[in-house]
Amino acid sequence: MKSVFSRILLMVVVVLGVYTFVGHLVPQFTGGYPPAEVKIQPGINQADLVKVGQDLVNNRGCLTCHTIGGTDKGRCPNLETVGKEAATRYKGYNAEQYLLRRLTDPDFSEVPGYPKIMPKVWQPPIALSWPEVKAVTAYLESLGGKVTVQVTADDVQEKPHEIKFPDGASVTVKKVEAAKEIDPAVIQEGHDVMMSLPDKERCIACHKVGTEMPAGWFPNGYGQYCPDLSTIGAMHDADYVKQKVENPQSLPTVTGYPKTMMPMDYKKVLNDKYGKQADEKLVALASFIISHRGQQKLPPEISPWIIGGMFLLSIIVGFFLKRRRT
Ligand code: HEC
Ligand code: HEC
Repeated sequence: MKSVFSRILLMVVVVLGVYTFVGHLVPQFTGGYPPAEVKIQPGINQADLVKVGQDLVNNRGCLTCHTIGGTDKGRCPNLETVGKEAATRYKGYNAEQYLLRRLTDPDFSEVPGYPKIMPKVWQPPIALSWPEVKAVTAYLESLGGKVTVQVTADDVQEKPHEIKFPDGASVTVKKVEAAKEIDPAVIQEGHDVMMSLPDKERCIACHKVGTEMPAGWFPNGYGQYCPDLSTIGAMHDADYVKQKVENPQSLPTVTGYPKTMMPMDYKKVLNDKYGKQADEKLVALASFIISHRGQQKLPPEISPWIIGGMFLLSIIVGFFLKRRRT
């Protein structure tokens, strides 16, 4: 009797162990995004170009901010009919011109009701090449409008591309290094810096950052007052985070969140603690924060890890049943 009981107990422990282990693997599995493989040829037909553009929009971080379709009223415009709206957004610009300008030089005009946080898509972290910018523009035009973008032999050359707009403005899109892999040692250092901050000023006192979250954090609890930073690296670079920490009021307040809640004395706190090294420590902290790029796509309903876990489980159960019989 006793041995059956202890076997059951052992099995429960093993099963829990396996699940905990599998659970730990999952966040690593979903992090980051694979760079899209792009073949944009001169004269590519528009349907293919739109398809490439759609893949880029799905995989390069646009959807961490934007929605396409649905009824979600988020911080960023729903792009469902942007191809149509683009034609009338800015005086003198047709849809293609407006979209190109919005993607490459977003601060040129207001989109009423939204904060100015749209990144330049040819700079990190999104870092689209010039042909990719054109593909994305074609896809956006296809959302409610007519696709006019053409890819020429000149477009696919690796060189700076100057775009001229009807009002005389021009923007030059250059190749910029994609967001680099951040040195794990710097990420660790940044984490240490965060943990060295006073309890109440520790970023994770308020923000959810990946798997770390404020004590008592739950989706509709305390965390609702502060944005979740788990996807911040897909939207912003380290400079943005550094500036937000040094002087939160110098950047637009994230829509829907309280304006003066983010502490304003980090510069002093870090200076007092680290002296001359304060700036370097802040860069490490910002690097740690933007190492969170979140998950771009929902994992499949049944993840391979669950299937793997079930498989292991059945082996273990089989093993125990066999031992009982012998
Ligand atoms: C950090 C969040 C963020 C990311 C990432 C982002 N956007 Fe935006 N986008 C915005 C915001 C906010 C606006 C509206 C205000 C503005 O334009 O400055 C906007 C505006 C736009 C508009 C103009 C919409 C209109 O109705 O006029 C388009 C088009 C657009 N974004 C496309 C994209 C694409 C394509 C990507 C990815 C390559 C992208 N955005 C990535 C935040 C973002
Ligand atoms: C007392 C709570 C609190 C603490 C502690 C705190 N923040 Fe914030 N933070 C906020 C709030 C509230 C906002 C949203 C309002 C705003 O934009 O100021 C915010 C906004 C941000 C944003 C902008 C997010 C976006 O989506 O654009 C970043 C980045 C950020 N915080 C980083 C940090 C870092 C890094 C730390 C630690 C050094 C930190 N915060 C500590 C409350 C806090």
